[in-house]
Amino acid sequence: MREIALHAAREGGRILMQKFGRVLRVEHKGEVDLVTEADRAAEQAIVAAIRGTFPRHDILAEEADYGCFGSRYRWIIDPLDGTTNYAHGFPWFAVSIGLEVEGEIVLGVVYNPFHQELFVAERGRGAFLNDIQIRVSSVASLDAALLATGFPYDRKHSAVNNYDHFVNFQQTAQACRRAGSASLDLAYLAAGRLDGFWEMKLKPWDVAAGKVLVEEAGGRISDFDGSPLDIKGKECLASNGMIHERMQEVLKSGRRP
Ligand code: IPD
Ligand code: CA
Ligand code: CA
Repeated sequence: MREIALHAAREGGRILMQKFGRVLRVEHKGEVDLVTEADRAAEQAIVAAIRGTFPRHDILAEEADYGCFGSRYRWIIDPLDGTTNYAHGFPWFAVSIGLEVEGEIVLGVVYNPFHQELFVAERGRGAFLNDIQIRVSSVASLDAALLATGFPYDRKHSAVNNYDHFVNFQQTAQACRRAGSASLDLAYLAAGRLDGFWEMKLKPWDVAAGKVLVEEAGGRISDFDGSPLDIKGKECLASNGMIHERMQEVLKSGRRP
């Protein structure tokens, strides 16, 4: 299954690179929520790679409904995480594939095809970037921490839009980044390039692979008050573990979804 996941991620990445920078048909799923033909083509290739070997496994993917067989295996797929970047030719996007077995995510692959960085983690076997083991950072204080976040697609109409938390973290952390791909933020956290991450209203395919990566790299991932992460839930807080409680405190003074 690991080999198939890697093959599927590379296939998806290959298609994204083929279409990157060309004029694409861009549709709106919402006011600011886009989908391109590359999202769909990459998803089809990833699903075909998985279904070719595991035709009865369940699949939860962003762009189409694949039904439900009631399998103990479920693949959770974001074929293009960072669509807004991609549609603008801003080279910051990834393929994200998580594998859940009886409700537990056991494998996570995040692939950045532009930088050819493949992040892989298997439950109990560590986290790797291009076959080299990675670990979270050892930054122990929030004021020295580099954080990442993102803003939900309903931000123009909902008051629960993360703006308050962003201001609060800008005032307490070293800096905050909004790069536009949640799965890559989590992979970067696992690799020690970021120290913390929070976001609200994400979808299971944004966080499934990243969860295993962060945990296998020695970090922590939860909801805003430290309870175990529910990938269907509305809050995600991840860190190197050392600044987790401090981030929880800051999150207490803003709105929760
Ligand atoms: C989005 C990205 C972004 C995050 C959004 C996600 P998409 O995914 O991960 O960083 O802030 O909340 O929806 O739409 O590019 O797959
Ligand atoms: Ca996404
Ligand atoms: Ca997507």
